[in-house]
Formats: sequence, C-alpha cells, structure tokens
Amino acid sequence: MRLKDKVAIVTGSGRGIGEGIVLRFAEEGAKIIVNDVNELDAKNVVDKIKASGGQAVAVIGSVADRSVVQKMVDTAVKEFGTLDIIINNAGITRDVILHKMTDEQWDSVIAVNLTGVFYGIQCAARVMREKGYGKIINVSSTSALGNAGQLNYSATKAGVIGMTKTAAKELGPKNVNVNAIAPGMIWTDMMKNMPPEQIKQMDAMLPFIVPLNRKGSPQDIANLALFLASDESSFITGQIIFCDGGMKM
Ligand SMILES: NC(=O)c1ccc[n+]([C@@H]2O[C@H](COP(=O)([O-])OP(=O)(O)OC[C@H]3O[C@@H](n4cnc5c(N)ncnc54)[C@H](O)[C@@H]3O)[C@@H](O)[C@H]2O)c1
Repeated sequence: MRLKDKVAIVTGSGRGIGEGIVLRFAEEGAKIIVNDVNELDAKNVVDKIKASGGQAVAVIGSVADRSVVQKMVDTAVKEFGTLDIIINNAGITRDVILHKMTDEQWDSVIAVNLTGVFYGIQCAARVMREKGYGKIINVSSTSALGNAGQLNYSATKAGVIGMTKTAAKELGPKNVNVNAIAPGMIWTDMMKNMPPEQIKQMDAMLPFIVPLNRKGSPQDIANLALFLASDESSFITGQIIFCDGGMKM
C-alpha cells in the first residue's frame, strides 16, 4: 500500500476528478477527508470508501470559506491524528467571452479556484511545517496557458501555478513538497455540462489536438496524484505536471 495510514484532504471530492482521487487513495490505505459543497455527493463517496473497508469523514462546505477549510484540517487532526496530504482540487467554471463577462462570473471563479487554493495551502501548511512533512498538490489546468471563453478560469489556473512555485520555495526547507497537476480534457461533469455543440466540435478535433487521441478519465489524474502524494516523488517540488494526452507539449 503506497499511502498506508497517511491522512489526506481532497477538496471537491464528491464527484469527478476529486472522487477518482479519494477512491484511489483509499485503496492505497489513506484515511480521507472528503469535502464538497454537495452534501449528498460527499456522503455517498464516504459510504463507498467505508463499504470497501476504508476510513473517511465528510466536511461539507465551500473552499471559498476559510472556516470550512480550517474545519477540514481540524477534522483530519481530530479524527485521524494528523494531516499528511492535501489536494486542492475543487474548481468551477463560468465560461463566457471576455467582453460579456460579468463581475459575478469573475468574482465567483476567483473565490473558489484561487482564494480556495490559497486557504487550502495555508491551513494545511501550518500543520505540515510543524510536522516537518507534507504533500500539497494543487489542481491547475491546461487553460492556464490561455483558452478563449475562460479569462476568469485561466487567470485562476495560472495563479495556481504561481502559488505552487512560491509555496514550494517557502515550504521546501520544512520537507513539504508542493506540486501541481494540469489536466487537459478530462471526461467529468465539468466537460459533460458544456453545450452539446461544443462537445461535438471537440470530439471531431480530438485526433488533431490530443496526440493520445482520447479524453482523460478521473483515474488518469488520480494515478498522477497518487505518485505525487507518495514518497516515490520525494525529490520533486515546485513542478507543474501536465496530464493531457500530450495536448500542450
Ligand atoms: N474536467 C476537466 O476537463 C478539467 C480540466 C482541467 C482542470 N480541471 C480541474 O479539475 C478540478 C476538478 O474538476 P472536475 O472535472 O472533477 O469538476 P466537476 O465539476 O466534475 O467536480 C467538481 C467538484 O467540486 C465541487 N465543488 C465546486 N465548488 C466547490 C467549492 N466551492 N467548495 C468545495 N467543493 C466544490 C463540486 O460540487 C464537484 O463535486 C477542478 O479544479 C477543475 O478546474 C478539470
């Protein structure tokens, strides 16, 4: 077991990539804090983990609320005695072309994808610094490099790269690794909720823009997160690893 008795928080893990990560981590022996704004989804994931013999607790609420993020860390320490890993995964899109973007669309994406990651890094780092051990993994996106219709989202995902590198420099001396995963097209509700026209166009383009000629799955991201959360990656920090079938090589 690659994460035996490690304690991990995964934000936004009620479905999609986050769910894929927690199910994989639980298989490898980790004890999990499942967080989501959707209570039913989070509780279902906790039940799945427990049904296969694992340990998990749900903390419901938004990563944009500092007190919720602090509660995740406090719950990890209270229920499982420590915190080893945090995956700052929760993210939202409010896609719209630049000249039509409202302040609400801008502010909501910044609050979850950027401020939420800041809270996650900071609250976890306070425990990890003291402990002299920790793995922080942030979820960025290939959209950090620019994507029409995603000015707000791209700004946050590029911001996540800056925060990852800065936190890696500050926390390296405390034996805390900080890395980011930049997924490409991953087939989750985030993509499935795109307008059908857009999905059709994307599928037609796939062989020309993705060398591996397929969309990714939550398991593809979970396998990379597992490597970064395990001690197999102990000499890697401050890196942004693209998991995108070669789309942005
Ligand atoms: N799917 C993709 O193609 C893709 C590509 C690049 C990056 N990403 C990133 O991967 C991460 C996960 O995406 P996904 O595809 O699984 O999305 P998803 O929409 O399928 O799942 C996101 C989960 O986060 C939860 N969530 C939303 N806002 C939250 C908040 N404020 N606090 C806590 N939980 C919240 C949702 O309820 C949902 O369960 C996101 O950061 C996303 O930006 C996804």
